[in-house]
Amino acid sequence: MDERRMRSEAADGMLRGFWYLAVSARNLKPGRTHPVTLLGEALLLGRRADGSVFAVSDSCPHRGMPMRHGSFDGQVLRCCYHGWAFRSDDGCCTEIPSLAPNDRTDPARFRLRTYPARDVQGNIWVYVGAAGAEPGPVPTVPGFEKEAPQVTTTMRFPCGVDLAAWGFFDPGHPAFVHTSRWWKKDPASRLRLKEKGFEPEGMGFRMLRHHLKEGANPYRLLGHNVRIDIGIQLPGVRIEHIEGDRHSACVLAAATPVTATETDVHYCVYWTIPWLAPLRPVAAWMARDFLNQDREVAERLTGNPALPAPLFVGDPDAQVRWYQRLKKEYLAAREEGRAFNNPLRAQTLHWRS
Ligand code: FES
Ligand SMILES: [Fe+2]
Repeated sequence: MDERRMRSEAADGMLRGFWYLAVSARNLKPGRTHPVTLLGEALLLGRRADGSVFAVSDSCPHRGMPMRHGSFDGQVLRCCYHGWAFRSDDGCCTEIPSLAPNDRTDPARFRLRTYPARDVQGNIWVYVGAAGAEPGPVPTVPGFEKEAPQVTTTMRFPCGVDLAAWGFFDPGHPAFVHTSRWWKKDPASRLRLKEKGFEPEGMGFRMLRHHLKEGANPYRLLGHNVRIDIGIQLPGVRIEHIEGDRHSACVLAAATPVTATETDVHYCVYWTIPWLAPLRPVAAWMARDFLNQDREVAERLTGNPALPAPLFVGDPDAQVRWYQRLKKEYLAAREEGRAFNNPLRAQTLHWRS
């Protein structure tokens, strides 16, 4: 990776070399395209007639017309300006309509940049990294192999990816921020001492499986003996797996940087409770309400013109501190051209929440 890009990566806080959840798969119908911005790069996602998905640069190599304004026939993209046609699989230009028949110019010299894209468990993931890099597996939720989420919500946060991701593992804030009546009653007055074990895993850490003593209301739907484990991975993906004696559920949360100052937070809930299907709109409303409380925090913070450097104090802030250390190690490993070495150790944390 070139040095200039490396420096900008360290400065803008957006990590290249990862899969990012771009949009819910339901936003991408066969034969259609969908523009997105990921890590400051304008992309065009598409779904071919056969259902497969792709992602290309949303900028025509001829004069830079955004490809979103062109057409797509389910296989080939055509720019709206001079009509150049591009294959959706490798981005190769196949036709320059204005060339005379005896012109020797080979259209294949020109191509749209392509990005690896996958449709997994109801979401479209795009790999943003060096061109030609070999991406690893897409993050998946356990136990819902081919299923789409029952509830999916995306909200744009007016902040960088760190602040948006911190909300996934900051146990000091829910009692004060997530105060909806459906979630917990008067939580600030009911803080309880918690003890949780953690261990490093991959490019992140895992809160070890534990039994839920006194569940928040939605968890009671899974039955008795509810167990939870939570995995956090760079660049900002949280997968919570909750299993009761009757049903199980997973919550996937992903923070996807749009630019250095805007982040899409995706929140997907998967469950195995068949009779809950008619309540999906209610669950979706609850998820939006919950997410909006975090968005408001981001809005208020970024509205502070004299925002100080953040403090990470004691065990309640340990996970946020770990996330920052993981990011730092990731950047250092890339800069030094060596393998990532997870800097965390197994540990038990105590806090009140
Ligand atoms: S700008 Fe796309 S064909 Fe000219
Ligand atoms: Fe939150």
